[in-house]
Amino acid sequence: MKKILITGGAGFIGSHVVRLFVKNYPDFEIFNLDKLTYAGNLENLKDIEENSNYRFVKGDIVDEAFVFDLFKQERFNKVIHMAAESHVDRSISNPTEFVYTNVIGTVNLLNASRAIWGDDFEGKVFCHVSTDEVYGSLGSEGLFTENTPYDPRSPYSASKAGSDHFVRAYYNTYGLPVVISNCSNNYGPNQFPEKLIPLFINNIINRKPLPVYGKGENVRDWLYVEDHAKAVELLCNKGKPGETYNIGGHNEWKNIDLIKTLCQIMDKKLGRADGESEKLITFVKDRAGHDMRYAIDASKIDRELGWKPEHRFEQGLEKTVDWYLENEQWLKNVTSGEYLKYYEQQYEKR
Ligand code: NAD
Ligand code: DAU
Repeated sequence: MKKILITGGAGFIGSHVVRLFVKNYPDFEIFNLDKLTYAGNLENLKDIEENSNYRFVKGDIVDEAFVFDLFKQERFNKVIHMAAESHVDRSISNPTEFVYTNVIGTVNLLNASRAIWGDDFEGKVFCHVSTDEVYGSLGSEGLFTENTPYDPRSPYSASKAGSDHFVRAYYNTYGLPVVISNCSNNYGPNQFPEKLIPLFINNIINRKPLPVYGKGENVRDWLYVEDHAKAVELLCNKGKPGETYNIGGHNEWKNIDLIKTLCQIMDKKLGRADGESEKLITFVKDRAGHDMRYAIDASKIDRELGWKPEHRFEQGLEKTVDWYLENEQWLKNVTSGEYLKYYEQQYEKR
């Protein structure tokens, strides 16, 4: 049986990718390798954990010996690499962890892939899932293309840029069949409530202040997570080795406008008076080095492989809110313990 390794499959995007592969590829064994950090949660995969083609392996991609042993034992045909430290604010307070996981962890996986594949790349691919943040920050005009020079500005984006450079170098130097994707902001079910949308949903439910960084004028491009998962599937099957593909939602929002829209949806869903949630908006000290605008030109993946986002934002946002309201226990479980300490450190003094 052929084997696909997905790293970081217990996280937000990873869990949607794992589910999609487990369902669409019954003839492949789908391995989910995850360290289960604060962001990894096996509850995200409850519905597929009993499937006969699904395997979970708990482990750390930074542990070179462990990674090599696993690759030698399982001889994966394809690798989809999503494990990462992923939150910009955490990278500002603890950059080193990001170097270990995002750079060293990636290099360990590249080396282990080389070790088992040798020169036989038939049916092999290393899909590296990266971010649009590697391109830096835009003014009010323009879009990131695949040719935009890298200009990472946070420790998170610097570590992702470093990993992208290594992945590309392994294609150029060793011919390793890699495909890189750079995607914009994802949203949807199962996202850890440290990121803007789930954090604000949780705070609105609990009538807590909504901490808007700076003036709320920063712009992000939002993509529904299942659309990203389908793009990753396509790249894994049809991406051209050595190529980079941008993935985006054609869906730019100024933070404050998005937050007000979310407040309106939440008021309706919670049966609260119009404008009640908006009163929770609190402008706080800006994020250090806060990138102003990200915007993606995703025409290459559309032109060459026929991928387009399927979800309209308003529909996706409502679906997301419904999921969090229907899964209050999930939210409660992930917002106890460690989360409270993080929240206090991140927001109490802003
Ligand atoms: P996430 O933080 O929700 O999940 C990351 C997962 O990686 C967790 O399950 C965690 O336990 C696991 N992990 C972390 N360190 C590990 C280690 N050392 N060994 C093994 N597993 C480890 O992240 P996400 O938002 O789902 O992002 C997934 C990937 O997509 C990341 O590479 C991220 O850079 C990229 N990405 C994210 C977005 C976004 O908007 N969230 C956008 C573009 C790209
Ligand atoms: O662009 C892709 C990237 O999107 C991914 O690579 C990252 O993994 C992901 O975390 C995300 O990064 P951002 O920094 O854009 O996402 P975040 O949800 O943290 O913030 C979105 C915007 O909202 C950003 O401008 C900062 C702002 N913000 C965020 C938080 C957590 C606030 O105003 N207040 C907050 O409390």
